[in-house]
Amino acid sequence: MAKNYGDVYHIEDWGEPYFAVNKDGHLCVRIYGRDTLPEQEIDVLSVIEKATSTDEKRKKLQFPMILRFPDVLRHRIDSLHAAFSNAIKSYQYGSVYQGVFPVKVNQNKAVVQDMVHFGYDHNYGLEAGSKPELLIAMSCLTKAKPGAYLICNGYKDSSYVALALAARAMGLNAIIVLEMEEELDIVIEQSSKLGVEPVIGVRAKLLTKIQGHFGSTGGKHGKFRLLAKKIYEVAKKLKALNKLHWLKLLHFHVGCMIPTTDNVFDAASEASNIYCTLVKECGAEMMTTLDCGGGLGVDYDETRSSTPMSVAYGLEEYASKVVQAVQDRCDYHGVPHPVLCTESGRAMASHHSMIILEALSATPEPKDDDDEATTEQLHERIRDLSSKLQSFKAETAAHMCMPSHAVHVKKHGIEC
Ligand SMILES: Cc1ncc(COP(=O)(O)O)c(C=O)c1O
Repeated sequence: MAKNYGDVYHIEDWGEPYFAVNKDGHLCVRIYGRDTLPEQEIDVLSVIEKATSTDEKRKKLQFPMILRFPDVLRHRIDSLHAAFSNAIKSYQYGSVYQGVFPVKVNQNKAVVQDMVHFGYDHNYGLEAGSKPELLIAMSCLTKAKPGAYLICNGYKDSSYVALALAARAMGLNAIIVLEMEEELDIVIEQSSKLGVEPVIGVRAKLLTKIQGHFGSTGGKHGKFRLLAKKIYEVAKKLKALNKLHWLKLLHFHVGCMIPTTDNVFDAASEASNIYCTLVKECGAEMMTTLDCGGGLGVDYDETRSSTPMSVAYGLEEYASKVVQAVQDRCDYHGVPHPVLCTESGRAMASHHSMIILEALSATPEPKDDDDEATTEQLHERIRDLSSKLQSFKAETAAHMCMPSHAVHVKKHGIEC
């Protein structure tokens, strides 16, 4: 019987819903996940054969090569938005979801452009974590729906802030997220110099800790971000300057591959409490958005566990926990529900590409001839194994009786 390689390599487990083995035994990509029709499946072997064959119009490609499946990106973006809109509907949450793709996760021009293109109807934006990323994001977002977020994270000097203000002057919805208190002075200075009013956010340093890959940078001792107390001081300073209306967003990022939905819930609850304090107690009534950062995990091995290669939830459970946590805290404090933003990176991009390496050698599959052995041959093998076992036991017993130094010298060929 022909071997099912989907079973051998457990592709049906970890590949779901994008990767499978087709009837020819070849790896195939289901670009629309479970909604993919059989004729829409892409046979990976035939793509590689085509790419490595010579064609008059095109140069033969070499290994290693990266195959990208942009339709998978589209499917990921649509699935994330569907998950949030279902959760928002079912909990009757009073606002919307408006996410961004963090450019740092995949800076490939085609990927960032695809993200903006496929996310157009969802108002999907971009997050930049450095000046070069901000330039990439500015160029790509000119094709986004007006109002899509351009979240400006990362270390900021005057030229970064000036660039972010230029983005706002261009009509992009750039939000400068303060990671350190000193950045506020740079924003104030650059804003008055350029005559552009900024929209700002603050990045919270939460006490909620996770164990994921970057969990150790979360919690109280993380390098960037502001503890709640410092955030309230920033609000106080803005109020004194009559600029509190600049403050519109609260951001946090507790780490990548958040292992469980309990962690998602705890982090979103803690951040929502800070958001509500800003609105209710610090008077930041123009606040609109809670940006929950990245961390939406990928269950690489499909074990639904909290091991490093897995997370114990999917898109729906993640969205539902964020919505529940924020709604619960805002209702408790009597604060209007904010727009929910996430900066989900790997969960959007990682399924859509694969790296193909050349096979340098192949080991022939071991032939299992047990099926053809006669009963007499099998009995013979058992007798052989059992006599080997007897002599092994006798030898071990002899060693056990020997003093340890005798065993040691025997190894050198000396009998005691
Ligand atoms: C601020 C910020 N946002 C988003 C992300 C993306 O995280 P993920 O790929 O886990 O969703 C990162 C990753 O390091 C990050 O630092």
